[in-house]
Amino acid sequence: MSDDMLRAPAEVKYAAELDWLESVDTGPKPFSWRLSPRMIRLFILGSERSDGLDREIPQKWFGDRSLVERAIVTLASDRGLLLIGDPGTGKSWLAELLAAAISRNSTLVVQGTAGTTEDHIKYSWNVSMVIAKGQSRDSMIPSPIMTAMEGGVIGRFEELTRSTSDVQDALISILSEKYVSIPELDDDNIVFAQPGFSIIATANSRDRGVNDLSSALKRRFNFVRIPVVTNKKSEAEIVRFRTEELLRRHQIELDLPPTLLDILLQSFADLRSAASSATSDDDKLESALSTAEQIGVLEDAILHSHFFGDRVLRAQTLAGSLVGSLARRSPEDLAILNKYWHGVVEPRSKKDGGEWPEFLEGGREAIATLS
Ligand SMILES: Nc1ncnc2c1ncn2[C@@H]1O[C@H](COP(=O)(O)OP(=O)(O)OP(=O)(O)O)[C@@H](O)[C@H]1O
Ligand SMILES: [Mg+2]
Repeated sequence: MSDDMLRAPAEVKYAAELDWLESVDTGPKPFSWRLSPRMIRLFILGSERSDGLDREIPQKWFGDRSLVERAIVTLASDRGLLLIGDPGTGKSWLAELLAAAISRNSTLVVQGTAGTTEDHIKYSWNVSMVIAKGQSRDSMIPSPIMTAMEGGVIGRFEELTRSTSDVQDALISILSEKYVSIPELDDDNIVFAQPGFSIIATANSRDRGVNDLSSALKRRFNFVRIPVVTNKKSEAEIVRFRTEELLRRHQIELDLPPTLLDILLQSFADLRSAASSATSDDDKLESALSTAEQIGVLEDAILHSHFFGDRVLRAQTLAGSLVGSLARRSPEDLAILNKYWHGVVEPRSKKDGGEWPEFLEGGREAIATLS
């Protein structure tokens, strides 16, 4: 089934694995959860030999084990889970994996924007049915959150802080009373949440909205902060994991030299340390330089080599993609990249050799083209 979708949700992509885990799971499960907390952790962080399983479970989210445990425990409690962090730190992906493992449904999602209204988290009406038959439960359109309440499963709220305070207030009542009333109806006018219902929300710490959440709403969520991955080994694993998936999805046969992966990781590490010592925003790249951004750069380079190159990823192409992806603001970002190329890539290329000279040249050309 997952072959027919551009991007299958985690419960579809990992259906066989989840079925198997369910069949061997003997641990206690809260509410109607499909897996026990231990199995959920194993599904997300992968198995180790000491787990003694007959089947190897690959790691899907890379990060601290204690964060994942806290997230799971929160969902078994009365409170919702709020994942906060910089863009591209894997918040949405973790939310999806949690919902897939707990409820086998990660698609009950509301996207928070300035235009999100209370209807999006409660219910709305099918106008033509209301005109024909009047208001009833049949002519009501439940929101994804209401569907999650009725089913006793996880509902997701992406970018919570981008929604208005009205919407956030409506969420407070859902999280505390655990029901939604439908005043338009005379009877059957309350939808109660079934056990197992909870909400996983995400918020971007660059949006600055987290502090503006009302204290009433904050109290109904446990906050779990997701840090930017700076450990090179984990980062390399994430990038490799995602890239292999991309190659499979596009059915691309392409050689990905490990030395190029090293160059990519090294450049991001250098640019991050430059950003952290920058004093003004003008001296900082606009990009958060997250792992997701690295994946984007590599994806771009791979597709470029596949369609326009000779099916080998070259340092020059990688440099071009890196410059192209990170130069968002002209001239600020280009000036920062230019400085980096002169001050860091050039000496490295002289000292280390290897693919660095080609990387140096490719970046220079790209910067010159964009300037
Ligand atoms: N720690 C991680 N483990 C596994 N994959 C990760 C991790 N961090 C980032 N990724 C990958 O990066 C991509 C982007 O992640 P995701 O969309 O979850 O980020 P996000 O934190 O929700 O960002 P935003 O705040 O911009 O919405 C995904 O493809 C994800 O697989
Ligand atoms: Mg997200």
